[in-house]
Amino acid sequence: MSARFQILVLHGPNLNLLGTREPGVYGSTTLEGINEALTELAGELNVELKILQSNHEGALVDAIQGARGECHGILINPAAYTHTSVAIRDAVAAVALPTVEVHLSNIHAREPFREQSYLAPVAVGQICGFGADSYLLGLRGLVKRLEK
Ligand code: DQA
Repeated sequence: MSARFQILVLHGPNLNLLGTREPGVYGSTTLEGINEALTELAGELNVELKILQSNHEGALVDAIQGARGECHGILINPAAYTHTSVAIRDAVAAVALPTVEVHLSNIHAREPFREQSYLAPVAVGQICGFGADSYLLGLRGLVKRLEK
């Protein structure tokens, strides 16, 4: 059976270092481990994922623009760009695809500068604080939204 929805999964800067990067904050699961868990869940939900990690803001903007006409929704952890990037927010607003924002850590319980998300106002919703499970919860939430 062909997949019901195509979903773009984006990981922002420094998330390629997961596993060794501040494990007390971000846990010990590697990005590869997160992608494997997402791919397994995608199979159960009968959706197809296109996954990209980039340390570059423009590459993330290009990927969001490229999702128009190709994908039904976006699951994104913009990482540090959450708190700085008007360009990523504008790209999401421009393509008008349902977008779910996820974070491993609870960005509202850390340094004050992490509390602001430029993306949140144009996202369907934000899931944070559940470690690698934030991604799985985010994917489930996005697929529920797409089913409606
Ligand atoms: C993060 C939280 C951001 O504040 C931080 O810059 C990251 C990771 C998270 O997943 O918890 O790189 O998005």
